[in-house]
Amino acid sequence: MELRAEKILKILWITCIMGALILHSIYLLFRDGFSPIYFLLLSILLLGFLPYTLLHRFIGKKCRADLLFINACLVTTAISLSLPFYNYFLMIFLPLISILFNQRRFFYIGSAVTIGVTIYELFFKNYLEEISTLQASIDIAFLFAYLFILDFVVRANAQYTKTSYIYDKTLNTLILAVEAKDDYTRGHSIRVSDYAMILGQYMCDTGYKIDLESLRISSILHDIGKINIPQDILSKEGKLTFEEYNTIKKHSQYGADLAKELGYPSHIVESILSHHERFDGKGYPEGKADQDTPINAKIIAIADTFDALTSNRSYRKAFSADEARKIVLDSMGSQFNANFEPVFEAVYPKFVEYQANVKNGNQEFSKVV
Ligand SMILES: [Fe+2]
Repeated sequence: MELRAEKILKILWITCIMGALILHSIYLLFRDGFSPIYFLLLSILLLGFLPYTLLHRFIGKKCRADLLFINACLVTTAISLSLPFYNYFLMIFLPLISILFNQRRFFYIGSAVTIGVTIYELFFKNYLEEISTLQASIDIAFLFAYLFILDFVVRANAQYTKTSYIYDKTLNTLILAVEAKDDYTRGHSIRVSDYAMILGQYMCDTGYKIDLESLRISSILHDIGKINIPQDILSKEGKLTFEEYNTIKKHSQYGADLAKELGYPSHIVESILSHHERFDGKGYPEGKADQDTPINAKIIAIADTFDALTSNRSYRKAFSADEARKIVLDSMGSQFNANFEPVFEAVYPKFVEYQANVKNGNQEFSKVV
């Protein structure tokens, strides 16, 4: 949410700066020539945005939202105070912007700044000479009513966030319950998700159209259908019988049904359903052709295979990363579409780096669901 707030604010700022530049140019070229007010506004926008632009690379993610919001407060206040007319309408955007950050403290700080600046404008900049006391009182009353309504929205949003958090935690517990059925697959879902995101991010950077958020969710939930598979089959040490293997194969359909029941959109459900489909059409549950398999399912299939190969199983020891790489590359053109070969080769060093971080306990696992 904070990242989205960052993006929206950046777009707002850039739009404001561009707008100020264009207006300034119009005044300069076609109207009254140099306009100190537009020049001042432009300076405030540029200088206000500067600290965040210069510093955001050097500060932790936790402080970025704080710095960005302080920037927003300073820029809005500076513009409001420098305009030579009564303009409290500008300040009412600050509490609205603060909602983007999805943190109540920002809303209350933004509201306090708005009230403070409005009262200052009215009573200390002598705008009461321009507008009547009645008008000022109505404006103040309107401002408080507006903040009261926004407060209601902020509270409802906080409640929604809390509910989403509980929903995420419940799903997390469900994933842990699935993995608890088999000691050998502990942490598998999160690792598959991390490998899938490495692949997906690289593909995005090289021109593929990948919905990364859907990829993250579907990869983390890909094996959730195993909740319906009997534990003795999942953790069986010897070779599976034909019937047992057929039972395990049902987990893709079970997972898709569960995701649908939980309300996930169809493209996530489809990716979960198809994560064991193959390029040669010999996969399951439907034996789909490659062009009918969602790209996210194909990415999950590679990530899933790589993690399975590099993990211990009840029936074999883990392969080394290099052995797993060779097996995955040998499967290009049969299990996987050969178009993935250069992608896999390109991200392989990142997979190795990730593995080393997991082993050393340095890896910050991706957020679950
Ligand atoms: Fe699976």
